[in-house]
Amino acid sequence: MTDSKIVLITGASSGIGAATAAHLAQAGHHVIAGARREDRLRDLVDSTAAAAGGSLAVRRLDVTDRTQVAAFVENAVDTHGRIDVLVNNAGVMPLSRLDALLVEQWDATIDVNVRGLLNGIAAALPHFQGRGRGHFVTVASIGAHQVVPTGAVYCATKYAAWAITEGLRLELDPAIRVTTVSPGVVASELADTITDADAAAAMRTYRADAISPDAIARAIAYAIGEPDDVDVNELIVRPARQR
Ligand SMILES: NC(=O)c1ccc[n+]([C@@H]2O[C@H](COP(=O)([O-])OP(=O)(O)OC[C@H]3O[C@@H](n4cnc5c(N)ncnc54)[C@H](OP(=O)(O)O)[C@@H]3O)[C@@H](O)[C@H]2O)c1
Repeated sequence: MTDSKIVLITGASSGIGAATAAHLAQAGHHVIAGARREDRLRDLVDSTAAAAGGSLAVRRLDVTDRTQVAAFVENAVDTHGRIDVLVNNAGVMPLSRLDALLVEQWDATIDVNVRGLLNGIAAALPHFQGRGRGHFVTVASIGAHQVVPTGAVYCATKYAAWAITEGLRLELDPAIRVTTVSPGVVASELADTITDADAAAAMRTYRADAISPDAIARAIAYAIGEPDDVDVNELIVRPARQR
């Protein structure tokens, strides 16, 4: 039987976040899923049959708004008395070459992928420290390990996500676990935010071999499911064909 945990997931209206929310609720965890698109969150609830002892609740959330992220965590603590896991998954990837100077997209990428992650940490860390236990899961990327043309800003945010999460691991009491999951190419809506025509065309080729977001959901479930004295720090999950 699953040790039922209270799991918060950001960016859960599509792709990896939605798959992870469904997978964990079906495994008997209590999941609170946040994102901006409330219609898509309602669709997720309608299509998910939570296991007995588990549940799936949703809440509108913009991770760039620190107050909203704090309320997301507080609401879960009020409802369940605690939180066990925060999956910082929300992300955007509007790729372009630097000389395209899409400076507003650079800012938006940093706001969601870095500030959003920090907002999640700021909201959950006091609860984890107060209880003397907890688990941060960061969804980074293969872009946290290599830079590709058109990916300078996106990869920079994922290198930052890796560094911030590793910093947590080094600084925190070992009772608070820290996992970075770095996906390779996964079928999702992530490339839909690309407005630059050249980058979009290159991504169609690059993303031809994609794995299901369920693969990342299973990786996160594995990390969460290990005993308290086992900290799964880093997982890279790529399509077998990806080089
Ligand atoms: N798919 C891949 O190939 C791949 C590879 C490596 C890493 N990743 C990472 O995996 C994570 C999930 O991406 P995905 O592939 O599942 O793409 P996706 O289908 O586009 O999902 C991204 C999620 O982030 C949410 N989001 C975006 N901005 C937000 C904000 N300001 N506040 C709250 N939520 C926000 C979106 O929801 P709303 O728009 O409804 O808010 C959506 O639920 C990202 O961090 C991404 O960088 C993906």
